[in-house]
Amino acid sequence: MNAILELAGLTVRIDGPEPRTLVHGVDVAIAPGERLGVIGESGSGKSLTALAVLGLLPHPLVAGGSARVRADAGSSPIEIVGTPSRRLDRVRGTTVGAVFQEPLASLDPLMRIGRQLAWPLQHHRGLRGEALRRAVLDALADVQLAQPERIARSYIHEISGGQRQRVAIALALAAGPRLLIADEPTTALDVTVQAGILDLLQREVSERGMSLLFISHDLPVLAGIADHVLVMKDGRQMEQGPTTQILGAPAQPYTAQLVTASRRLDDFLPAGPATGADA
Ligand SMILES: Nc1ncnc2c1ncn2[C@@H]1O[C@H](COP(=O)(O)OP(=O)(O)O)[C@@H](O)[C@H]1O
Ligand SMILES: [Mg+2]
Repeated sequence: MNAILELAGLTVRIDGPEPRTLVHGVDVAIAPGERLGVIGESGSGKSLTALAVLGLLPHPLVAGGSARVRADAGSSPIEIVGTPSRRLDRVRGTTVGAVFQEPLASLDPLMRIGRQLAWPLQHHRGLRGEALRRAVLDALADVQLAQPERIARSYIHEISGGQRQRVAIALALAAGPRLLIADEPTTALDVTVQAGILDLLQREVSERGMSLLFISHDLPVLAGIADHVLVMKDGRQMEQGPTTQILGAPAQPYTAQLVTASRRLDDFLPAGPATGADA
């Protein structure tokens, strides 16, 4: 299979005098156009797995095993584990884009939004002048921001949380990645804003034929977007498979618990995305 992403025994551990393993070996592959959802309670190792794939683990955390990313269908995969971060600049953005829970994590407070977006469009797509200006406004309109001109001139503190996450998504998409990693992209947002962002992600992913690695602690949200699911608990992979199979007939008691708990929520909540707090 020409997987876009292939994890084989991927581990994350704390290096140093008292080494400790935080992620104990994840094995999963994402095919072109596939949407993998990673579900698990807070602290189960979801974000560390995503950061390892991006080559962005903070010191003293180190990855082990293998995480291979394929830049395009014909090329041989690039090994992320063990490759120095600076050599991964080309992979991040062009091949793999990322959106995090907190949009401010990927946005610069001191630079106008238009200039932040211009950078990847200029570097990865070679745009200049009027073509670049148009591309910036198109990128903002694509993520359904009304008044793209005004947003482009704004600083990040001048717009709302939902608008910031739309800008962060536009930034992640600007270089045309083949795989988008979205780590709890709606968890920090108001319920009313969440559904709009999920719709946007879903539409962008299918229109661009991208693959998606979508991380959430919220089962109903994940079930709505993922065609495959990977269940994690305490840094371990519990089970994986097609969403309908894993949620319809879980093999693991832990997954069954997650399913039952979210059904119970359905009885209490009005229709719409469920909310939850996650660290
Ligand atoms: N920089 C760090 N140093 C030490 N432990 C960490 C660090 N980052 C995360 N952890 C621990 O690793 C575990 C997994 O974290 P994480 O991947 O962020 O979980 P989540 O599934 O909520 O995204 C947690 O127990 C967390 O406390
Ligand atoms: Mg997390």
